[in-house]
Amino acid sequence: MAKNFDTMEDSNRSANPSIHDLSDPARRTMLRGGLGLAASALYAPLVAGCAAAATREGPKAVLPVIGFKSVPAVATDTLVVPEGYVASAIAAWGEPIGVPGNMPAFKPDASNSAADQAVQMGMHHDGIHFYTLDGNGNTRGLLAMNHEYTDDGLLHADGMKAWSAEKVRKSQNAHGLAVIEVEMKAGAWQMVRPSKYARRFTMQTPFAVGGPCAGHALFKTAADPEGRTVLGTLNNCASGKTPWGTYLSGEENWMGYFGGGDKLSDHQRRWGMRKSSSYRWEEHDDRFDAVKHPNESNRFGWVVEMDPLDPTSTPVKRTALGRAAHEGAWVGVTKDGRAVVYSGEDARFEYIYKFISRDKIAPGGAKPNRTLLDHGTLTVARFNGDGSGNWMALLHGQGALTAANGFADQGEVLIKTRQASDLLGATKMDRPEWLAIDPHSGWVYATLTNNSSRGAKGMPGVDAANPRANNVFGQIIRWHDDRDFDGTTFQWNHLVLCGDPANERAEAKGNIQGDIYACPDGIAFDARGVLWIQTDMGPAAMHQGELKNVGNNQMLACDVATGQTRRFLTGPTNCEITGVTWTPDGTTMFLNVQHPGETPSERSDPAEPNKYSNWPDYRPGGRPRSATVVVRKKDGGVIGT
Ligand code: FEO
Ligand code: CA
Ligand code: CA
Repeated sequence: MAKNFDTMEDSNRSANPSIHDLSDPARRTMLRGGLGLAASALYAPLVAGCAAAATREGPKAVLPVIGFKSVPAVATDTLVVPEGYVASAIAAWGEPIGVPGNMPAFKPDASNSAADQAVQMGMHHDGIHFYTLDGNGNTRGLLAMNHEYTDDGLLHADGMKAWSAEKVRKSQNAHGLAVIEVEMKAGAWQMVRPSKYARRFTMQTPFAVGGPCAGHALFKTAADPEGRTVLGTLNNCASGKTPWGTYLSGEENWMGYFGGGDKLSDHQRRWGMRKSSSYRWEEHDDRFDAVKHPNESNRFGWVVEMDPLDPTSTPVKRTALGRAAHEGAWVGVTKDGRAVVYSGEDARFEYIYKFISRDKIAPGGAKPNRTLLDHGTLTVARFNGDGSGNWMALLHGQGALTAANGFADQGEVLIKTRQASDLLGATKMDRPEWLAIDPHSGWVYATLTNNSSRGAKGMPGVDAANPRANNVFGQIIRWHDDRDFDGTTFQWNHLVLCGDPANERAEAKGNIQGDIYACPDGIAFDARGVLWIQTDMGPAAMHQGELKNVGNNQMLACDVATGQTRRFLTGPTNCEITGVTWTPDGTTMFLNVQHPGETPSERSDPAEPNKYSNWPDYRPGGRPRSATVVVRKKDGGVIGT
């Protein structure tokens, strides 16, 4: 299903005043205009070299250098990288992941079975991280990644015609996560098959439940009366890598998979559930029928944690981090060694969160930290108009979060994180997508991808953090927690308001310094401190109107000290660029191309599967496929230099 936010939920009807009365956009504009000045005071110097965990003190400084020549805003069905670089696609949808003895080949007519799909790469690759193996991480390692959603017009030979239990199962098996082994041989990266690490996590994979919701009454279902084991994870979007070596994945638009029937509860409405789902799983899999199984949906919307290096490990839903349309989750470390997990939810007028672990990170990798994210405090952000901010604790019994207001205990506060945040007066944001922590300065960056409903009739108006009505282009906001990552207050400003100086609408011109782009989504810092920005303009909006000059979705590099931005890569037609990771030496970059050829309508026409794109195979009569792209510099140097 194409992600068309014009038809997706706008469920935040809370009276929460957000910060409209407190905003002073003039001050924020001044900070933006004075970015260079502000940055020189705000930023610790940047250094070449790797900091695996985000800490607030970096070694001494070398400013990052962006050394490549920009690529133009290409709008054709090809992937373009700068002069001196090469890119190749691996691990496309349908490739066997390498389970020993079970490696069914991809069939280009989409006739693979559901069972085949369970051991093949899923559809719609998203967040991705590289994990070193055997201390040889620059030429061999694991890639863990998400498969966000499916286009069932491409997934089955005849699309959704003659909808069946087998097709539902294939769709479910094309969702979830994947772990694959990769290796560079003779200068080319390829999948290692078979591999003892190869693993898929689908809608049939048991996930343990960690944190206050384990065993909670609202987690119990007919199939799981204990409320402690959930089958599957879905709509996994962005990802984070923890300092103890695990993979965090956000369950984003889970509400789109449940049929709620004619009488939706207030709880279901607040989460945007609809009468029926466009994925139509509930027609052949009862647990997605929310009338019959109303608690099943409470078990989605979580950050899941998975250990790619241990093929026998059980993945866990970390409920202490709160329930949301989680884009992903990213970890900072306090001076005394506790984990601080930032996350946001990508929906119009929803919120940004921060979790602070009770305990310190233990040395020794994943095993000694297996319950670290089950104990701690969840907070939600309020961005004040004077450039300050507050993290407000979501704790049962504090303030309005009481039984009288519908929260029986902490578990219910977490299952109803949105409702709890409404009561606390959190700031309604313009669709928070990825976050990234500058490994050298400790500043936290968040993309606010767009919000065309901002300022529309009956919708929240502009505020300092979300300063533009009909926000087509999006912005990147950043903050620095006072004292340490666990600070209860912070200072914030915008890195950039995206736009196009040629745009006729004054407030859509933005203030990008360098190559223009729109709808920032994926972001990540490399080891040198360069911020890489990826875009997701929907196929219904791109190449026309206000976005006519921006080209296809793309990736850019930004020097956050100066704001200078340069376009590094453009993707094939109607794809989204998302997820990026590097080998430790920075000479190989892996990123994902998601949904090449996505149709502006709900899903692809199986009679014309390559109408918009035939990337990466360009096979006559073939289908476009999401895939991982490997980027190298021809001289073997560090990417971006
Ligand atoms: Fe899955 Fe918010 O992008
Ligand atoms: Ca995204
Ligand atoms: Ca997006």
